[in-house]
Amino acid sequence: MELKAAIEARTSVRIFSDEKIPLSDIREMVRLAGLAPSVNNFQPWRYIAIMNNDLLNNMADVVAQKIEELPSSKSIAAGNVKKQVTWFSTFFKDAPVVLILVTKPYETVLESAVEISHDVINEIRNHPDIQSAGASIQNILLAAVDMGYGACWLSGAMFAREELEKMLKIKAPERMLAFVVIGKPRSEHKPKIKPNLADSMEIIE
Ligand SMILES: Cc1cc2nc3c(=O)[nH]c(=O)nc-3n(C[C@H](O)[C@H](O)[C@H](O)COP(=O)(O)O)c2cc1C
Repeated sequence: MELKAAIEARTSVRIFSDEKIPLSDIREMVRLAGLAPSVNNFQPWRYIAIMNNDLLNNMADVVAQKIEELPSSKSIAAGNVKKQVTWFSTFFKDAPVVLILVTKPYETVLESAVEISHDVINEIRNHPDIQSAGASIQNILLAAVDMGYGACWLSGAMFAREELEKMLKIKAPERMLAFVVIGKPRSEHKPKIKPNLADSMEIIE
C-alpha cells in the first residue's frame, strides 16, 4: 500500500475478530516502530507484547477499578460517562495483542555542559522522550493498516499505570506510556471525516 493511502485509510479500530496475529507480524510492526525518529537518536523506548487473555483480563479489571474509584462529579451523567470511559480504557482485554510502550531514560547532550537538570531540560524541550514515543506508535498504526490489521492507540489504561507497572515488573526509571491494541477488524471501518488541516494553516512568507 502506498504510504499516503495507508495514512488516509487509518482509523482507530477497537473491536477485533478472534484471529490471532502471527508473532512474525507483531515483530515486523515493532521493528518499524523502532525506525521512528527519536531525541538524539536515543530510541528511549521498548515494547512489551501481551497475548495472554487471563493477564489482559486482570489488567482490564484493575483499570476498571481505578476509574470506578475516581471521585464522581455531581453531574447526573457522571455514572454513564464513567461507564463509557471504562469501556474505552478496557476494550484491550479482547484484542489479540496489546503492545505496551515503555519509555526509557535518555540523556540530552546539553546536560553534561550546563548546570540544569535533565528534568528541567526535558520540560523546556517539551518532553522529547514522549514526542519520540508518539512517532514510534504512529509507525505501528500505519504499519498495521499496511499489513491488513486495525489498531488503536490507548492511554486510558494509564489510570492504573502504577498497578500495571507492578504486574508487569516495570521499574523506575522506566515508565509505561501507552498501549497499542492490534487485531483484524471485526467489521469494515471508514476513516473519520476530518477538516483539511492545511486550510487553517498559518502561512508566514
Ligand atoms: C494519545 C492518544 C491517546 C488515545 N487514547 C485512547 C483511549 O484511551 N481509548 C480509546 O478508545 N481511544 C484512544 N485514542 C484514539 C482516539 O480516540 C482516536 O485517535 C480519535 O478519536 C480519532 O479517531 P481516528 O483514530 O479513527 O482518526 C487515543 C489516541 C491518541 C493519539
